[in-house]
Amino acid sequence: MGFFGNLFKKPKTEAVYEIKSPDRRLVATFMVDHGQISYFVKKDDKIILRKSRLGLLLKDTTPLADNFSIVRAYSRSADETWKAFWGEQRVIRNNYNETAFYLEETEKPNRLLTVRFRLYNDGVAFRYEVPAQPAMENMVVADEITEFSVDSNSRSWCIPAYQPDRYEYDYSEHPVYSITDSVHTPITIQTPVGYYVAIHEAALYNYGSMTLRLNNSSLKADITPLSDGMRAYVELPFSTPWRTITVAQDALDLTVSRMILNLNDAPRDDFSWVEPTKFMGIWWAMYVGEWTWAPGERHGATTEHAMRYIDSCRNLGIPSLLVEGWNDGWEGDWLENGVNNKFTQSTPDFDMKAVTDYGRKNGVEIIGHHETVGFIDNYEAQLDDAYKYLAQYGIRYVKSGYAGSKMTINGHREFHHSQLGVLHYQKALELAAKYHIMLDVHEPIKGTGIERTWPNLMTREGARGQEYEGGALAPSHACYLPFTRLLSGGMDYTPGILDVSNFSKRIASTLTRQLAYYVTIYSSMQMAADRPQIYESQHPDLFHFIREVPTRWEQTVPLLGEIGKYYVVARQQWEGTDWYVGGVTNEEGRKLDLYFDYLEPGVNYVAVIYRDSEDAHYRDHQLGYVIEERIVRHGDKMEMYVAPGGGFAMHLKKQ
Ligand code: NOJ
Ligand code: CA
Repeated sequence: MGFFGNLFKKPKTEAVYEIKSPDRRLVATFMVDHGQISYFVKKDDKIILRKSRLGLLLKDTTPLADNFSIVRAYSRSADETWKAFWGEQRVIRNNYNETAFYLEETEKPNRLLTVRFRLYNDGVAFRYEVPAQPAMENMVVADEITEFSVDSNSRSWCIPAYQPDRYEYDYSEHPVYSITDSVHTPITIQTPVGYYVAIHEAALYNYGSMTLRLNNSSLKADITPLSDGMRAYVELPFSTPWRTITVAQDALDLTVSRMILNLNDAPRDDFSWVEPTKFMGIWWAMYVGEWTWAPGERHGATTEHAMRYIDSCRNLGIPSLLVEGWNDGWEGDWLENGVNNKFTQSTPDFDMKAVTDYGRKNGVEIIGHHETVGFIDNYEAQLDDAYKYLAQYGIRYVKSGYAGSKMTINGHREFHHSQLGVLHYQKALELAAKYHIMLDVHEPIKGTGIERTWPNLMTREGARGQEYEGGALAPSHACYLPFTRLLSGGMDYTPGILDVSNFSKRIASTLTRQLAYYVTIYSSMQMAADRPQIYESQHPDLFHFIREVPTRWEQTVPLLGEIGKYYVVARQQWEGTDWYVGGVTNEEGRKLDLYFDYLEPGVNYVAVIYRDSEDAHYRDHQLGYVIEERIVRHGDKMEMYVAPGGGFAMHLKKQ
């Protein structure tokens, strides 16, 4: 057995190893117990995860889980900083202690497995690495044994998995013991002693995405199956995604963990061409019933409408314009007919050349749209041509969409979140990078920090966004997101609907809450989602904030929050000195005490404040707002009233 040469120490079937975070407060213990592998996690000597089993179930052979001896443990540490291209924090520290446990089965076929742990001050991560070895050339993963044994009396916040609308569900709170079906990650948990824990994964490539289900009164990995029931087919060597356990004393601290990004590799290519943007769209007019995606009398994506919207973008100072419904295939029942979508052919009333030329003349970029309806076979057959087609018109951004309850891949119906779905999203992303195209993916695979390696993955949807307004969004939703979905990365929530009381799509929001979203929900491609005429004719005073607010940040300082109730965050302008603050509440109005400790001491800042009036209400008085200017300084305190279903935004500039 030559893999480790003569470096082997004597095989051990009983072993207990501790790996500590750099600040030594978080400790993961890896154990081999009668050959069976497991781990547990403590923070400040308090149990976060009880003993939890590790291992992989393989098809037609014994699991990679038992009969192991530890042949070598190799430790190292890292402390480095890296600069993001965009994001919630420009300079990120990556500081961890790592130990890789090299295991070998004590019985034939003596297979090898490595379990690698990384301990950060804010979390634990581990992954399985299966080396190339004589006994196995490839591996069919039937499931993982991996457990996350949190106390089943913990509170938890999550969404159900394997549902037709993918990740587009309401977050709700359950004790862990009452989780009946599989749930998506990130799942956020509060243990009975008060620690906040988020379980998720990082660097998801070529593998089914992890969901969790209740097993033996705790949580266990349930890897999304393929249509044949298997979870992944892989060649060796292979590393699974990192399994991540973020641990914090305060729920707000979860929101600033950069562990998921840190567990991803630096980009291998030059991505200096990526650039955040803000955009309007031939979009909301379809939602309010003014226009349609499909061709016909009320077709939205016509040359004339696009030119009119380009004029508005130019006049309003918005650099990009999304055009949906421009291509052949939207006719009739588009969910059924999407199998015929053509991505290199516009409808007869839409002239791509004329529109992009007109855009260029006016300093406005067009954002292309690929609605695949999950017909991956149809899309992949055209993918290269589809990007080439847009690139030839100078288009640098594409919003893609994967509507439909499942994907059609190789003629089979597969989960978006299965290995084949993951492979598709990756293929589309890598090919986009080749054409220097940046993506905003709707109905995406969840974020696992791969945008560190592929910074052209600008943003995703992957949760209920404002398209669910008009009945299906409660004000609490935006107060769950920062503590759940947004832990996995930015989101295209499509904020900025100022026509809040539109009779065909009423928004459960006050006006200034729409501004707050630009700060509370990060996206490097941020939409001004309403129709331009609304910004032009109504509330240009509020639109001023939408135009000014940046799409990337130097740093992020969460100020106040309780899961599902309220959330307030301050963010500093990228390489600048301005600060922006956003805050939202649920159905309850509240007075919040704001402090300004993050401001430079001894300096006056002019704060332009956009807030709810005292009589504002998301149902009865949506339009009540106040814009005012105040001087604030480090050390000041300000009482901020936020109306039921309301929110506020603030821009602070040095005087
Ligand atoms: C769902 C997306 O979330 C939405 O933004 C898009 O307009 C429709 N699908 C149509 O592609
Ligand atoms: Ca959607």
